[in-house]
Order: sequence, then C-alpha cells, then structure tokens
Amino acid sequence: MASIPTLTMNDGRSIPQIGYGCWQIPEDKAPGLVGDALKAGYRLIDTAAAYGNEAGVGKGIRDSGVPRAEIFLTTKLWNDRQGPDAAKAFEESLAKLGLDYVDLYLIHWPCPQRRLFVETWKAMIALLDAGKIKSIGVSNFTDEHLATLVGETGVTPAVNQIELHPYFQRQDARAADKARGIVTEAWSPLGRGEELKDPVIAEIAKAHGKSPAQVILRWHIQIGVVVIPKSANPQRIVENISIFDFTLSPEEMARIGMLDKPSGRIGPDPATFC
Ligand code: A2P
Repeated sequence: MASIPTLTMNDGRSIPQIGYGCWQIPEDKAPGLVGDALKAGYRLIDTAAAYGNEAGVGKGIRDSGVPRAEIFLTTKLWNDRQGPDAAKAFEESLAKLGLDYVDLYLIHWPCPQRRLFVETWKAMIALLDAGKIKSIGVSNFTDEHLATLVGETGVTPAVNQIELHPYFQRQDARAADKARGIVTEAWSPLGRGEELKDPVIAEIAKAHGKSPAQVILRWHIQIGVVVIPKSANPQRIVENISIFDFTLSPEEMARIGMLDKPSGRIGPDPATFC
C-alpha cells in the first residue's frame, strides 16, 4: 500500500491528500463502506451532519481496528445550526459519531444572507480552544467571505472545501486560498461521474493503463489540493486510492487544464445557497 502524501495546514497539523467522501452514503451502509475505505488505506474520512450518516461513519471508524489517532475525521455544521446553536450542533455530531474529538470541523456553507457565519466561526474557535476539535475550517466560502471572517476574528480557516473538478477548475479560488495560507479541498472531484467520459481524460488514462477516475484524482493530487472521492462500490474505493504509482506529465496536466469551462459548476452557488 503506497503511503499517502499529506499537506501541512496553517495550524501546523497535517491532512492526508486523499480521503473517502461520505456524501450520499446511507447510514446503514456507512459502517461497512468506511471499514472498506480504511482497509484500502484511506486515513481521511469526510462526512457532515447534513449527510445523515455520522452514527454509521463513527461506527465504521470505531470497529475498524485502525487506531483513532491515525484517522483524520472531518464533519460539518449544517446551515440551520449557524449562530448561537453552533456549539450544541457540534456536541450532537460528536455524540452521533461516538468519538471524543473530530480532526476538522467545517462551516458547511457561508449562507451570507443570514449574516451568522462570523458568530459561528467564533463558536468554533472556542471549541478548538476546548480541545474537542483539532482544526477548524470552512466549505464553499468565496474570498469575500474569507476576508470577512479573517477581518472580524483574526483567525484564518485551515481548509476551504469547494466544488472543484476538471470542468470547474477554480484557479481564482485556489489562488485566493493559497494567498491566505488555506488548504483547498475538492468536493465532487470526479464531476459526479460526468467527466469520466471525457475523451481527453480517456486518452490519458489509456496511455497510463489507468482508469479515467484515477487520472482525474491524480490531477487533483498534482495541482496540490486535498481530494475526497466518494463511491459506494468497494472495488472503486480501492481504485480511487491507487493513484500513487504513476505521474501525469506537464503536457498531460496542461491538456487537462484546458478542460475548464465557465459553466462547469454542478452544485449550488455559495453566494445564494442556504
Ligand atoms: P459509485 O458510488 O457507484 O462508485 P464525485 O465524487 O465527483 O461526486 O463523484 C461520485 C460519483 O462517481 C458517484 O456516482 C460514484 O458512483 C462515481 N464513482 C466514484 N468512483 C468511481 C470510479 N472509480 N469509476 C467510476 N465511477 C466512480
């Protein structure tokens, strides 16, 4: 099993560069699939209160036999718990997970129209100080939201988890995160499966004897982001982490770079979604 590269966050802690994404994994399937992912070598597991599977994910971690300290677990605060309710929402997540701490806690969406994300961030800073969370970050924040957060609290998120895949490459968002010392993490890294059919990806995959998914995930690794593919299929769970025995050339990286589209977004727009 190849060792997984890590990135260093601005709080000095390390995050594995590939993780197992649990969005849409049903609660009853989560223990088995998380167990499969840990067996395959994943050490980052990404869930959220809104996924409705924290209890199953926690069980999968507890039953895996992998020491807790070797696992990096992320969960997220849902939109309707922002503001005064944030600390209580975190305790509920922790109770469902059945664990003593989480490695990374994220504000799931900024919901800027509610004007609660600064207050929420302050609650997360307090939880960090209490030791129940090792690192704090955000998801789907634009640079404008980040500027507000940092300006109001002086605390920069460790991670910004955003939609990112070859048809929606987010150069500006990645550059903005980097300038602030924030690790960018990619959700829906495979473009929910659509981009697996792209002819350029297929050609590069053929040249390496790899699958289109492996080429896309390798591209994420080489652009320097954390990537969290999800799959409910045990074989594909293994396939998706088997990407550390080949390298995309600068020319191949450039060809994938050309696939970016202005209309590539497939998820909600953070400026309006809540
Ligand atoms: P499945 O669960 O049947 O494997 P994204 O992470 O971009 O949102 O994409 C997730 C989608 O891609 C899921 O529908 C998942 O389906 C599919 N998927 C994940 N890994 C692979 C793979 N290696 N090959 C083909 N499809 C995959």
